[in-house]
Amino acid sequence: MANQDQIVFFDTTLRDGEQSPGCTMHPAEKLRMAHQLAALGVDILEAGFAIASLGDAESIRQIARDVRGPRITSLARCKREDIEAAARSIEPAEKSRIHVFIATSDLHLEAKLRITRAEALVQAAESVRLARSYADDIEFSAEDATRSDIDFLTEIVTIAVQAGATTINLPDTVGYTTPAEYTALFRTIHTRVPGMENVILSTHCHNDLGMAVANSLAGIEGGARQVECTINGIGERAGNAALEEIAAALMVRRDKFPYNSNIVMNQLFPTSQMLSECISFGCSPNKAVVGANAFAHESGIHQHGMLANPLTYEIMTPASVGVPSTNLVLGKHSGRRVLEQRLAELGHPLTRAQLDEVYHRFTDLTDRKKSIYDQDLIGLLQPDKSVATTA
Ligand code: KIV
Ligand code: ZN
Repeated sequence: MANQDQIVFFDTTLRDGEQSPGCTMHPAEKLRMAHQLAALGVDILEAGFAIASLGDAESIRQIARDVRGPRITSLARCKREDIEAAARSIEPAEKSRIHVFIATSDLHLEAKLRITRAEALVQAAESVRLARSYADDIEFSAEDATRSDIDFLTEIVTIAVQAGATTINLPDTVGYTTPAEYTALFRTIHTRVPGMENVILSTHCHNDLGMAVANSLAGIEGGARQVECTINGIGERAGNAALEEIAAALMVRRDKFPYNSNIVMNQLFPTSQMLSECISFGCSPNKAVVGANAFAHESGIHQHGMLANPLTYEIMTPASVGVPSTNLVLGKHSGRRVLEQRLAELGHPLTRAQLDEVYHRFTDLTDRKKSIYDQDLIGLLQPDKSVATTA
């Protein structure tokens, strides 16, 4: 019987994440990330797609050999050579899984695989059985599940469970679904497929319409207990559901999602930072949870509220997700209180009259300059000597 109180985190940064433009990593970077993902507490670590290249297979093998904690998995199509390559690559792992997938929408079956539904059923059953001969823990994914005929999806999932799949994943491969629709999909599959009490249902959401995290949470509402996601939401096209956003949502909205997980919350920011170092871009400043502005406040009203009580404008503390501290940014929207506080921190407590004068000079400067640094503030105390740093 699957534990209904626990959300299993399946990280696919090194597979679905890595296969997107600008995200390629060298084996040493993948190994470094894998150790960090273990420290973060992910339960399943998808280390790559073994059949894709010899380099990918060797990288999965190295992770399987060195990294302890998470269950290590490799992706495989419903093909013998894929499953055998996956099995070889995860062989040194302490705990392993083989992840097999086949497309189930008519569009993919006809245009991409050029096979009939009946052929897909046979391939799914044979592949899960073959995978089961190498490992006890098998995940079956119905690619493009959210655009598949529900009766056929029910049939193929039933066959995969009978063949020995222990996790069933219903991917929203092209980020097409909506939260209510995705909840209903999980409820339908859970009700219709026999033997689901021993199987974990999984979400796998892409972000084409910006709903990957909302849809993942909706999947949980529908009965999913595994979420597939990536650090910083990297992944094909607009990316995958961001691990840090799902973990933070579960923490902040425990009233709605009363579940446990093994995620070590204060490792979220360090993991995000490490990934940005390994790939060719960081996340946008306004990225939820880990972006540079996620805990930054510039407007006077917000800064005033923050100084009075951080709960006014922050729904979680920066420390709870590993971010060093809240950042009260000085800019053209800032008020005199935060200016007074920053100058006091810099060793310049001001009288009310001095503050009035300095604040006047400060607003004049912010009209001319976008970024205000500490040296600019100190310059404001001695206006004749002030030389503003470049914006
Ligand atoms: O998006 C998708 O459908 C996938 C599967 C291979 C799990 O990444
Ligand atoms: Zn995907």
